[in-house]
Amino acid sequence: MIVRQEIKALLQQPPIGQEVTVMGWVRAWRGNRFMVLNDGSGPETLQVVVDGDQFDEATLRQIGFHACVGVTGTLAESQGSGQAVEVLATDLTIYGANDLSKYPLQPKKQSMEFLRDNAQFRMRTNTFSSVFRVRHGVAYAVNKYFNDRGYYYLHTPIITGNDAEGAGEMFRVSVLDPVNPPKTEDGKIDYDQDFFGKPTNLTVSGQLQAEIGALALGKVYTFGPTFRAENSNTSRHLAEFWMIEPEIAFADLDNDMDLAEDFVKYLINYCLEHYAEDLKFLDDRIQELEKNMKATDRRPMGLVDTLKFVVANEFARVTYTEALDILIRSKTYKKGKFEFPLSWGADLQAEHERYLVEKHFERPVIVRDYPKDIKAFYMRQNEDGKTVAAMDVLFPYIGEVIGGSQREEREDKLRQRMQEMDVHADELDWYLQLRTFGGCPHAGFGLGFERIVQFITGMGNIRDVIPFPRAPRLAQF
Ligand code: 4AD
Ligand code: MG
Repeated sequence: MIVRQEIKALLQQPPIGQEVTVMGWVRAWRGNRFMVLNDGSGPETLQVVVDGDQFDEATLRQIGFHACVGVTGTLAESQGSGQAVEVLATDLTIYGANDLSKYPLQPKKQSMEFLRDNAQFRMRTNTFSSVFRVRHGVAYAVNKYFNDRGYYYLHTPIITGNDAEGAGEMFRVSVLDPVNPPKTEDGKIDYDQDFFGKPTNLTVSGQLQAEIGALALGKVYTFGPTFRAENSNTSRHLAEFWMIEPEIAFADLDNDMDLAEDFVKYLINYCLEHYAEDLKFLDDRIQELEKNMKATDRRPMGLVDTLKFVVANEFARVTYTEALDILIRSKTYKKGKFEFPLSWGADLQAEHERYLVEKHFERPVIVRDYPKDIKAFYMRQNEDGKTVAAMDVLFPYIGEVIGGSQREEREDKLRQRMQEMDVHADELDWYLQLRTFGGCPHAGFGLGFERIVQFITGMGNIRDVIPFPRAPRLAQF
């Protein structure tokens, strides 16, 4: 059996003078004497002092950047500055030597793209280990938040025959021969012979099934992978991302917005409280990156201060029509500096969302009551006949983190909207039945998990907050 102590716990109450055994990866090896060890338990490193006289040449030669070693020694107060304690090694085990002349990573600054291509090793870097610890923290906080408030975690299917968003951006799931698929008499692909006997795809959202849960269990949430075959090569889009979708019975759009605001603030607070060291590291990293930038390109606040600001202040709330008004009256618009056109009915683009959040309100913004034609078929139609009870939560740097709505619970209205939007009622008979039989007002939203992790960690590209990103032409690992 292997017995070791974890560095994070060890440094919380250092047992000075006692023998300890730690194991991890070498972050730095200085002067053939000082080894900086990290075992992933936290961002903290432990300095190990290696007395060259006590170990043979062959062992010493194998210590190096990202080599994996075990150390036994006495924990002592450090003689040097920079760390409170250090281990005076009496025994060394080289678990995994690391030939730097062949190792893809090198002990210097490397680009995010390069590290992405070498994702088998990128979690060994300070930045990525912090990012993925925080990602875990957010996931835990999601489950804790809902569990503590009486929500049930509902596992919705990953393979489905539905297009929940009606946007047609789906990855097909099929076991048919792609070169020579069986055909029907009229020359179409014969899905009757496919695995499920019909066309199926990877889910774009678990919402429709979550509604089944809400209309029986009262309050549910999903938290799972979702897939979109949209050809979006941006720093905010993934083809495979995780989404959290609460769905609540006896709720309208106001209940929905209150829940959304409370929930994201909780997630951020949780990280501030439990991942302070990692966030401090990520904060310093951004300051370093921005050192040589123009003042106007720099963030107005550091990462941790931004997070604290977001939890301390109420989100602004406006209707789509009010938001459009603000945008049209802005200097940016008047000077022709928005790339995309603005008129009632047009969807807000990232540039507009960022203007509202970063320039106008200087805080997160919830936009509600969007034109019905730019939103999904299931959203509740407002009395004005033009808008639906939809809401988007917009954040600085990221734009939309949450999209949600009150659902259309009136069967006739829903049926009519599906027809207008060419959503096939025969596929969604079960969904319509939720209205026919024992329905009620209900609402929910979807939080893009990677988008909130991106905001909390301050990472510039969404591909750097998911361990193995999927995007157009990117399916390595
Ligand atoms: O706004 P969306 O498309 O809403 C839905 O899917 C609803 N069914 C949610 C619901 O009401 N239950 O997606 C929700 C969120 C977005 O606000 C965004 O944060 C994230 O999911 N998202 C993406 N994240 C990464 N990559 C993509 N391609 C994303 N598309 C949406
Ligand atoms: Mg949306």
